[in-house]
Amino acid sequence: MTDSSRAGKGGTRDTSVGDRDISLEADMKHIDQHHRVLLEQIRVLLDPAEAGRIQETLDLIVTCAANRFRTEERLHQKTDYARAGEHLEAHHRFTAVFGTLKKEYDDSGHSLTILMKLTKFLLAWLKEHIRGQDQEFADYFHQFRSPT
Ligand SMILES: [Fe+2]
Repeated sequence: MTDSSRAGKGGTRDTSVGDRDISLEADMKHIDQHHRVLLEQIRVLLDPAEAGRIQETLDLIVTCAANRFRTEERLHQKTDYARAGEHLEAHHRFTAVFGTLKKEYDDSGHSLTILMKLTKFLLAWLKEHIRGQDQEFADYFHQFRSPT
């Protein structure tokens, strides 16, 4: 990094727009899109008119969550995120609990009781993790990208 590449940034971190930076921004947008996808998936689970899509939606949630977690964890590493460890633990807990609930649903067939447990868990995840830990990381990310 040259001195001129730091000019005007006021920090010690190279924030020049290069392939690496574009990749980070793309990953962050990817995470935002995943959050919107999860909201739509919860809507499907709660809508009796969508009963025929529940199994497919549960399978999609597993795939989407795994992809989202990989992307987030990659960003944590690339930005030296100090709270990466506890964030990773939360992802592992989600995978374990959702996996258990989904298996219950898979084994019992269409069960309204388990479906309600699943949607309750996903809504809590949305509120506590996505609007909590993920938002905290997003704030850190924007600070990392544009240090004051
Ligand atoms: Fe996360």
